[in-house]
Amino acid sequence: MRIVVLTGAGISAESGLSTFRDADGLWEGHDPMQVATPEAYDDDPALVQRFYDERRAALSTVEPNAAHRALARLETALGDDLLVVTQNVDDLHERAGSTRVHHLHGRLRSAWCTSCDQRHEWDGPLADRPPCPACGERTLRPDIVWFGEIPYGMDVVERALWSCDRFVSIGTSGVVYPAAAFVQWARGRTLELNLEPSVGVSDFEESRQGPATHLVPAWVEEVLGDGGPK
Ligand code: APR
Repeated sequence: MRIVVLTGAGISAESGLSTFRDADGLWEGHDPMQVATPEAYDDDPALVQRFYDERRAALSTVEPNAAHRALARLETALGDDLLVVTQNVDDLHERAGSTRVHHLHGRLRSAWCTSCDQRHEWDGPLADRPPCPACGERTLRPDIVWFGEIPYGMDVVERALWSCDRFVSIGTSGVVYPAAAFVQWARGRTLELNLEPSVGVSDFEESRQGPATHLVPAWVEEVLGDGGPK
């Protein structure tokens, strides 16, 4: 039984990280969507770095929740047959114990040097333009896939989707591609677990509405309980 799980900001909402499109308003007077672009970074790198510095710092104030932990339990049972593909740039899946996590949109705790192309685990700020530990240039940027950039590792994700028996989408509004199309590419049965129906809900064979901390552990129990994944 091979399962691909796609997660979005909704799975981390109950840990205290705000989602992108759930009426959180502005950040320093800017729409967060408009900060997450290469053009914004070209125009005002310090502003974009501050936005991500704040989000990186916020990671140390939050903990994985019951939904992250349930997916880690599922990996313990299924091993290589489970792949979590996340649009999230937080590290809550890993801190819950998941090891097979593919970050489509990069990670906050990674910095990428645009001079030497090295990536470094990073916990501190970048707005003060620290030197790259590898080449010394002050050209580190958040290792985040911005709007208009290409998501990481789509070949891996496509292969997993084409050969899976179940595809489960959790906590994503379904408006950002390519993730929004995964339900159409997935070979097996499809299920959505979300607070409200996503934009693409009609593409799923089944949809359940509610908070991730209730829906995900319940679904994992079904999968593990009777050997017949739903
Ligand atoms: N449990 C389950 N779902 C929830 C919860 C919750 N507790 N809270 C919110 N949601 C749902 C919302 O109803 C919404 O459908 O999670 C979804 C979050 O949607 P978005 O904020 O659009 O986040 P996401 O789909 O992950 O965004 C995709 O857009 O801005 C970019 O790169 C960014 O990765 C991000 C991408």
